[in-house]
Amino acid sequence: MKIMVTGGAGFIGSAVVRQAIRENLEIVNVDALTYASCIENVASVSNSPNYAFEHVDIRDRAALDRVFEGHKPDAVMHLAAESHVDRSIDGPSDFIETNINGTFNMLEAARAYWQDCGRPDGFRFHHISTDEVFGTLSDDKEELFTEQTSYDPRSPYSASKAASDHLVRAWHETYGLPVVLTNCSNNYGPYHFPEKLIPVVILNALEGKALPIYGDGSNVRDWLYVEDHADALLTVIRHGKIGRSYNIGGENERTNLELVTTLCRILDDLRPRDGGPYENLITFVTDRPGHDARYAIDPTRIRDELGWRPSVTIEEGLRKTVQWYLDNEEWWRPLQKRDGVGKRLGTG
Ligand SMILES: NC(=O)c1ccc[n+]([C@@H]2O[C@H](COP(=O)([O-])OP(=O)(O)OC[C@H]3O[C@@H](n4cnc5c(N)ncnc54)[C@H](O)[C@@H]3O)[C@@H](O)[C@H]2O)c1
Repeated sequence: MKIMVTGGAGFIGSAVVRQAIRENLEIVNVDALTYASCIENVASVSNSPNYAFEHVDIRDRAALDRVFEGHKPDAVMHLAAESHVDRSIDGPSDFIETNINGTFNMLEAARAYWQDCGRPDGFRFHHISTDEVFGTLSDDKEELFTEQTSYDPRSPYSASKAASDHLVRAWHETYGLPVVLTNCSNNYGPYHFPEKLIPVVILNALEGKALPIYGDGSNVRDWLYVEDHADALLTVIRHGKIGRSYNIGGENERTNLELVTTLCRILDDLRPRDGGPYENLITFVTDRPGHDARYAIDPTRIRDELGWRPSVTIEEGLRKTVQWYLDNEEWWRPLQKRDGVGKRLGTG
Protein backbone atom coordinates (compact mmCIF):
# COMPACT_ATOMS: atom_id res chain seq x y z
CA MET A 1 0.00 0.00 0.00
CA LYS A 2 1.28 3.48 -0.90
CA ILE A 3 0.20 6.12 1.64
CA MET A 4 0.41 9.88 1.20
CA VAL A 5 1.11 11.25 4.69
CA THR A 6 0.70 14.99 5.21
CA GLY A 7 2.66 16.56 8.07
CA GLY A 8 5.19 13.72 8.07
CA ALA A 9 8.00 16.01 9.26
CA GLY A 10 6.07 16.81 12.46
CA PHE A 11 5.84 14.99 15.76
CA ILE A 12 3.10 12.42 15.11
CA GLY A 13 3.40 12.30 11.31
CA SER A 14 7.07 11.36 11.54
CA ALA A 15 6.24 8.53 13.97
CA VAL A 16 3.70 7.26 11.41
CA VAL A 17 6.27 7.52 8.59
CA ARG A 18 8.97 5.68 10.56
CA GLN A 19 6.60 2.89 11.58
CA ALA A 20 5.05 2.55 8.10
CA ILE A 21 8.48 2.18 6.48
CA ARG A 22 9.39 -0.45 9.09
CA GLU A 23 6.21 -2.29 8.04
CA ASN A 24 7.26 -2.13 4.37
CA LEU A 25 4.55 0.32 3.32
CA GLU A 26 5.34 2.97 0.69
CA ILE A 27 5.22 6.56 1.93
CA VAL A 28 4.93 9.93 0.22
CA ASN A 29 5.59 12.54 2.89
CA VAL A 30 3.96 15.89 2.04
CA ASP A 31 5.06 18.72 4.32
CA ALA A 32 5.50 22.50 4.04
CA LEU A 33 8.29 22.39 6.67
CA THR A 34 6.85 25.06 8.97
CA TYR A 35 8.52 26.21 12.21
CA ALA A 36 7.06 23.09 13.94
CA SER A 37 8.64 20.59 11.57
CA CYS A 38 11.98 18.86 11.65
CA ILE A 39 12.90 16.82 8.60
CA GLU A 40 15.57 15.01 10.69
CA ASN A 41 12.62 13.26 12.38
CA VAL A 42 12.51 10.95 9.35
CA ALA A 43 16.26 10.80 8.67
CA SER A 44 16.35 7.14 9.75
CA VAL A 45 14.06 6.13 6.85
CA SER A 46 14.68 8.77 4.20
CA ASN A 47 17.07 6.54 2.22
CA SER A 48 14.50 3.79 1.94
CA PRO A 49 13.34 3.06 -1.65
CA ASN A 50 9.82 3.10 -0.18
CA TYR A 51 10.11 6.76 0.94
CA ALA A 52 9.54 9.96 -1.04
CA PHE A 53 9.32 13.56 0.16
CA GLU A 54 7.31 16.41 -1.40
CA HIS A 55 7.93 19.91 -0.06
CA VAL A 56 4.37 21.12 -0.59
CA ASP A 57 1.97 23.40 1.28
CA ILE A 58 -1.55 21.93 1.57
CA ARG A 59 -2.92 25.42 0.92
CA ASP A 60 -1.61 25.03 -2.67
CA ARG A 61 -4.25 23.01 -4.53
CA ALA A 62 -2.32 22.79 -7.83
CA ALA A 63 0.71 21.36 -6.01
CA LEU A 64 -1.51 18.77 -4.30
CA ASP A 65 -2.96 17.71 -7.67
CA ARG A 66 0.60 17.19 -8.93
CA VAL A 67 1.46 15.03 -5.91
CA PHE A 68 -1.64 12.84 -6.41
CA GLU A 69 -0.94 12.46 -10.14
CA GLY A 70 2.77 11.87 -9.69
CA HIS A 71 2.58 9.30 -6.87
CA LYS A 72 -0.86 7.70 -7.26
CA PRO A 73 -1.37 6.84 -3.56
CA ASP A 74 -3.78 4.13 -2.37
CA ALA A 75 -4.58 6.09 0.77
CA VAL A 76 -4.09 9.45 2.46
CA MET A 77 -3.30 10.06 6.12
CA HIS A 78 -3.88 13.76 6.69
CA LEU A 79 -1.98 15.07 9.73
CA ALA A 80 -0.60 18.43 8.50
CA ALA A 81 -1.94 21.15 10.76
CA GLU A 82 -1.06 24.05 12.96
CA SER A 83 -1.13 22.30 16.33
CA HIS A 84 -0.16 24.60 19.21
CA VAL A 85 -3.15 25.94 21.17
CA ASP A 86 -1.18 28.88 22.62
CA ARG A 87 -0.15 30.02 19.12
CA SER A 88 -3.80 29.74 18.00
CA ILE A 89 -4.73 32.26 20.69
CA ASP A 90 -2.09 34.77 19.55
CA GLY A 91 -2.58 34.26 15.78
CA PRO A 92 -5.60 32.23 14.72
CA SER A 93 -5.42 32.96 10.98
CA ASP A 94 -2.77 30.32 10.16
CA PHE A 95 -5.00 27.78 11.92
CA ILE A 96 -7.98 28.71 9.76
CA GLU A 97 -5.92 28.68 6.56
CA THR A 98 -4.08 25.39 7.12
CA ASN A 99 -6.50 23.39 9.25
CA ILE A 100 -9.72 24.38 7.49
CA ASN A 101 -8.82 25.65 4.00
CA GLY A 102 -5.90 23.21 3.74
CA THR A 103 -8.17 20.28 4.64
CA PHE A 104 -10.72 21.50 2.09
CA ASN A 105 -7.95 21.46 -0.55
CA MET A 106 -6.88 17.99 0.51
CA LEU A 107 -10.46 16.72 0.21
CA GLU A 108 -10.99 18.28 -3.20
CA ALA A 109 -7.65 17.05 -4.55
CA ALA A 110 -8.31 13.55 -3.15
CA ARG A 111 -11.85 13.51 -4.57
CA ALA A 112 -10.70 14.55 -8.06
CA TYR A 113 -7.96 11.91 -8.02
CA TRP A 114 -10.27 9.19 -6.64
CA GLN A 115 -12.94 9.97 -9.26
CA ASP A 116 -10.33 9.93 -12.07
CA CYS A 117 -9.21 6.49 -10.84
CA GLY A 118 -12.81 5.17 -11.15
CA ARG A 119 -13.77 5.62 -7.48
CA PRO A 120 -11.90 2.54 -6.13
CA ASP A 121 -13.53 1.06 -2.99
CA GLY A 122 -10.14 0.46 -1.41
CA PHE A 123 -9.12 4.13 -1.39
CA ARG A 124 -9.04 5.80 2.06
CA PHE A 125 -8.88 9.40 3.24
CA HIS A 126 -7.93 9.27 6.93
CA HIS A 127 -8.30 12.51 8.85
CA ILE A 128 -6.23 12.66 12.03
CA SER A 129 -7.91 14.84 14.64
CA THR A 130 -7.96 15.61 18.32
CA ASP A 131 -10.20 15.01 21.35
CA GLU A 132 -10.12 18.78 21.89
CA VAL A 133 -13.05 19.08 19.41
CA PHE A 134 -15.31 17.71 22.18
CA GLY A 135 -14.60 20.60 24.55
CA THR A 136 -14.13 19.96 28.23
CA LEU A 137 -15.32 17.39 30.80
CA SER A 138 -16.25 17.73 34.47
CA ASP A 139 -14.14 15.92 37.07
CA ASP A 140 -16.72 13.11 37.25
CA LYS A 141 -14.50 10.13 36.26
CA GLU A 142 -17.51 8.36 34.70
CA GLU A 143 -17.69 11.11 32.08
CA LEU A 144 -15.59 10.27 28.99
CA PHE A 145 -15.44 11.38 25.33
CA THR A 146 -17.06 8.76 23.08
CA GLU A 147 -17.60 8.90 19.32
CA GLN A 148 -21.15 10.12 20.11
CA THR A 149 -20.03 13.11 22.21
CA SER A 150 -21.23 16.42 20.73
CA TYR A 151 -18.64 18.79 19.35
CA ASP A 152 -17.99 21.80 21.60
CA PRO A 153 -14.57 23.27 20.69
CA ARG A 154 -13.39 26.18 22.80
CA SER A 155 -10.04 27.35 21.37
CA PRO A 156 -9.21 28.60 17.86
CA TYR A 157 -7.13 25.41 17.41
CA SER A 158 -9.90 23.01 18.44
CA ALA A 159 -12.52 24.97 16.49
CA SER A 160 -10.39 24.71 13.34
CA LYS A 161 -9.96 20.95 13.86
CA ALA A 162 -13.71 20.56 14.49
CA ALA A 163 -14.42 22.39 11.23
CA SER A 164 -12.06 20.10 9.35
CA ASP A 165 -13.70 17.00 10.86
CA HIS A 166 -17.08 18.28 9.66
CA LEU A 167 -15.73 18.84 6.15
CA VAL A 168 -14.34 15.30 6.02
CA ARG A 169 -17.70 13.78 7.08
CA ALA A 170 -19.53 15.98 4.57
CA TRP A 171 -17.24 14.81 1.71
CA HIS A 172 -18.13 11.23 2.65
CA GLU A 173 -21.89 11.81 2.88
CA THR A 174 -22.11 14.07 -0.17
CA TYR A 175 -19.54 12.66 -2.59
CA GLY A 176 -19.04 9.14 -1.23
CA LEU A 177 -15.33 9.72 -0.56
CA PRO A 178 -14.19 6.71 1.54
CA VAL A 179 -13.08 8.45 4.73
CA VAL A 180 -12.13 7.38 8.25
CA LEU A 181 -11.53 9.74 11.17
CA THR A 182 -9.66 9.47 14.46
CA ASN A 183 -9.78 11.76 17.48
CA CYS A 184 -6.86 11.26 19.82
CA SER A 185 -5.88 12.50 23.24
CA ASN A 186 -2.59 14.28 24.08
CA ASN A 187 0.53 12.58 22.72
CA TYR A 188 4.03 12.53 24.16
CA GLY A 189 7.29 10.84 23.24
CA PRO A 190 10.48 11.27 21.17
CA TYR A 191 10.69 14.17 18.65
CA HIS A 192 8.06 16.25 20.50
CA PHE A 193 8.67 19.88 19.51
CA PRO A 194 10.20 21.81 22.44
CA GLU A 195 7.29 24.23 22.88
CA LYS A 196 4.87 21.61 24.23
CA LEU A 197 4.50 20.89 27.97
CA ILE A 198 6.48 17.65 28.35
CA PRO A 199 9.62 18.67 26.39
CA VAL A 200 9.49 22.16 27.97
CA VAL A 201 9.53 20.58 31.43
CA ILE A 202 12.35 18.14 30.62
CA LEU A 203 14.55 20.74 28.90
CA ASN A 204 13.93 23.51 31.46
CA ALA A 205 14.72 21.05 34.24
CA LEU A 206 18.03 20.11 32.61
CA GLU A 207 18.94 23.81 32.46
CA GLY A 208 17.82 24.49 36.05
CA LYS A 209 15.05 26.81 34.84
CA ALA A 210 11.52 27.19 36.26
CA LEU A 211 9.05 24.44 35.30
CA PRO A 212 5.93 26.42 34.32
CA ILE A 213 2.51 24.99 35.18
CA TYR A 214 -0.57 26.87 33.96
CA GLY A 215 -3.09 27.89 36.66
CA ASP A 216 -3.14 25.53 39.65
CA GLY A 217 -2.04 22.46 37.66
CA SER A 218 -5.40 20.72 38.08
CA ASN A 219 -6.19 20.43 34.35
CA VAL A 220 -6.46 16.76 33.39
CA ARG A 221 -5.16 15.24 30.14
CA ASP A 222 -5.28 11.62 28.93
CA TRP A 223 -1.73 10.85 27.71
CA LEU A 224 -0.75 8.48 24.91
CA TYR A 225 2.77 7.50 23.80
CA VAL A 226 3.24 8.73 20.22
CA GLU A 227 4.36 5.36 18.85
CA ASP A 228 1.17 3.78 20.20
CA HIS A 229 -0.80 6.50 18.40
CA ALA A 230 1.08 5.75 15.15
CA ASP A 231 0.23 2.08 15.59
CA ALA A 232 -3.46 2.93 16.14
CA LEU A 233 -3.51 5.12 13.03
CA LEU A 234 -1.99 2.40 10.85
CA THR A 235 -4.57 -0.03 12.28
CA VAL A 236 -7.43 2.33 11.39
CA ILE A 237 -6.23 3.03 7.84
CA ARG A 238 -6.02 -0.72 7.19
CA HIS A 239 -9.08 -2.00 9.06
CA GLY A 240 -11.28 0.99 10.00
CA LYS A 241 -14.82 0.99 8.65
CA ILE A 242 -15.57 3.59 5.99
CA GLY A 243 -17.35 6.69 7.31
CA ARG A 244 -16.58 5.76 10.92
CA SER A 245 -14.61 7.66 13.53
CA TYR A 246 -12.49 6.14 16.29
CA ASN A 247 -11.46 7.76 19.56
CA ILE A 248 -7.89 6.92 20.57
CA GLY A 249 -6.58 7.31 24.11
CA GLY A 250 -4.24 5.74 26.59
CA GLU A 251 -6.63 5.63 29.60
CA ASN A 252 -3.88 7.52 31.42
CA GLU A 253 -5.52 10.54 33.01
CA ARG A 254 -3.15 12.79 34.93
CA THR A 255 -3.40 16.34 36.21
CA ASN A 256 -0.67 18.57 34.80
CA LEU A 257 0.80 18.79 38.30
CA GLU A 258 0.92 14.98 38.64
CA LEU A 259 2.50 14.70 35.20
CA VAL A 260 5.22 17.27 35.92
CA THR A 261 5.92 15.72 39.33
CA THR A 262 6.36 12.29 37.68
CA LEU A 263 8.77 13.79 35.14
CA CYS A 264 10.74 15.39 38.01
CA ARG A 265 11.04 12.03 39.80
CA ILE A 266 12.24 10.29 36.61
CA LEU A 267 14.82 13.05 36.11
CA ASP A 268 15.92 12.76 39.77
CA ASP A 269 16.62 9.12 39.01
CA LEU A 270 18.25 9.44 35.57
CA ARG A 271 20.12 12.77 35.97
CA PRO A 272 20.22 13.76 39.68
CA ARG A 273 20.54 17.49 40.25
CA ASP A 274 23.10 19.11 42.54
CA GLY A 275 20.62 21.70 43.83
CA GLY A 276 18.06 19.14 45.16
CA PRO A 277 14.97 17.53 43.63
CA TYR A 278 13.68 18.91 40.32
CA GLU A 279 10.25 19.44 41.93
CA ASN A 280 11.73 22.53 43.62
CA LEU A 281 11.72 24.18 40.16
CA ILE A 282 7.92 23.93 39.70
CA THR A 283 6.38 27.39 39.23
CA PHE A 284 2.68 28.19 38.77
CA VAL A 285 2.03 30.75 35.99
CA THR A 286 -1.04 32.61 34.68
CA ASP A 287 -3.53 30.18 33.19
CA ARG A 288 -4.32 29.91 29.46
CA PRO A 289 -7.61 31.70 28.60
CA GLY A 290 -10.38 29.15 27.99
CA HIS A 291 -8.16 26.34 29.36
CA ASP A 292 -10.22 23.13 29.12
CA ALA A 293 -10.46 21.45 32.53
CA ARG A 294 -10.39 17.78 31.58
CA TYR A 295 -10.06 15.52 28.54
CA ALA A 296 -10.54 11.74 28.80
CA ILE A 297 -11.16 9.23 26.04
CA ASP A 298 -13.32 6.12 26.04
CA PRO A 299 -11.37 3.89 23.61
CA THR A 300 -13.89 1.01 23.65
CA ARG A 301 -14.66 1.20 19.91
CA ILE A 302 -11.09 0.95 18.62
CA ARG A 303 -10.31 -1.72 21.23
CA ASP A 304 -13.37 -3.91 20.57
CA GLU A 305 -13.69 -3.45 16.79
CA LEU A 306 -10.04 -3.27 15.75
CA GLY A 307 -8.24 -4.93 18.68
CA TRP A 308 -5.91 -1.96 19.29
CA ARG A 309 -4.41 -1.34 22.72
CA PRO A 310 -1.53 0.86 23.86
CA SER A 311 1.72 -1.05 24.38
CA VAL A 312 3.26 1.01 27.20
CA THR A 313 2.04 2.43 30.50
CA ILE A 314 2.48 6.16 31.06
CA GLU A 315 5.31 5.51 33.54
CA GLU A 316 7.20 3.41 30.94
CA GLY A 317 6.49 5.90 28.16
CA LEU A 318 7.59 8.93 30.21
CA ARG A 319 10.83 7.20 31.24
CA LYS A 320 11.59 6.32 27.59
CA THR A 321 10.82 9.92 26.63
CA VAL A 322 13.08 11.49 29.28
CA GLN A 323 15.88 9.10 28.30
CA TRP A 324 15.41 10.04 24.63
CA TYR A 325 15.79 13.78 25.39
CA LEU A 326 18.88 13.03 27.50
CA ASP A 327 20.38 11.11 24.56
CA ASN A 328 19.38 13.51 21.76
CA GLU A 329 20.53 17.01 22.63
CA GLU A 330 21.72 17.55 19.04
CA TRP A 331 18.07 17.19 17.95
CA TRP A 332 16.42 19.59 20.43
CA ARG A 333 19.13 22.22 20.96
CA PRO A 334 18.76 23.94 17.51
CA LEU A 335 14.95 23.86 17.74
CA GLN A 336 15.03 25.98 20.89
CA LYS A 337 16.26 28.89 18.74
CA ARG A 338 13.15 28.87 16.51
CA ASP A 339 10.76 31.80 16.61
CA GLY A 340 8.60 31.89 19.75
CA VAL A 341 10.09 28.77 21.35
CA GLY A 342 10.85 29.33 25.05
CA LYS A 343 8.51 32.35 25.23
CA ARG A 344 5.19 32.42 27.05
CA LEU A 345 2.54 32.53 24.31
CA GLY A 346 -1.24 32.59 24.33
CA THR A 347 -2.02 34.69 27.37
CA GLY A 348 -4.82 36.38 25.42
N1 LIG B 1 0.11 16.46 19.40
C1 LIG B 1 -0.97 15.92 19.92
O1 LIG B 1 -1.02 15.63 21.12
C2 LIG B 1 -2.16 15.61 19.03
C3 LIG B 1 -3.22 14.88 19.57
C4 LIG B 1 -4.30 14.54 18.75
C5 LIG B 1 -4.31 14.92 17.43
N2 LIG B 1 -3.28 15.66 16.92
C6 LIG B 1 -3.33 16.01 15.49
O2 LIG B 1 -2.30 15.26 14.85
C7 LIG B 1 -1.75 16.02 13.77
C8 LIG B 1 -0.26 16.12 13.93
O3 LIG B 1 0.04 16.75 15.18
P1 LIG B 1 1.55 17.01 15.61
O4 LIG B 1 1.56 17.19 17.08
O5 LIG B 1 2.43 16.00 14.99
O6 LIG B 1 1.81 18.43 14.92
P2 LIG B 1 3.18 19.14 14.58
O7 LIG B 1 2.92 20.60 14.78
O8 LIG B 1 4.32 18.51 15.32
O9 LIG B 1 3.43 18.84 13.03
C9 LIG B 1 2.63 19.39 12.02
C10 LIG B 1 3.32 19.17 10.69
O10 LIG B 1 2.45 19.69 9.68
C11 LIG B 1 3.22 20.49 8.80
N3 LIG B 1 2.37 21.55 8.26
C12 LIG B 1 1.79 22.58 8.94
N4 LIG B 1 1.13 23.38 8.09
C13 LIG B 1 1.26 22.83 6.84
C14 LIG B 1 0.80 23.19 5.58
N5 LIG B 1 0.05 24.29 5.37
N6 LIG B 1 1.09 22.39 4.52
C15 LIG B 1 1.85 21.26 4.70
N7 LIG B 1 2.36 20.90 5.89
C16 LIG B 1 2.06 21.67 6.96
C17 LIG B 1 4.35 21.07 9.65
O11 LIG B 1 5.46 21.48 8.84
C18 LIG B 1 4.66 19.91 10.58
O12 LIG B 1 5.64 19.06 10.02
C19 LIG B 1 -2.47 17.37 13.78
O13 LIG B 1 -3.48 17.31 12.81
C20 LIG B 1 -3.04 17.47 15.18
O14 LIG B 1 -4.20 18.24 15.17
C21 LIG B 1 -2.20 16.01 17.70
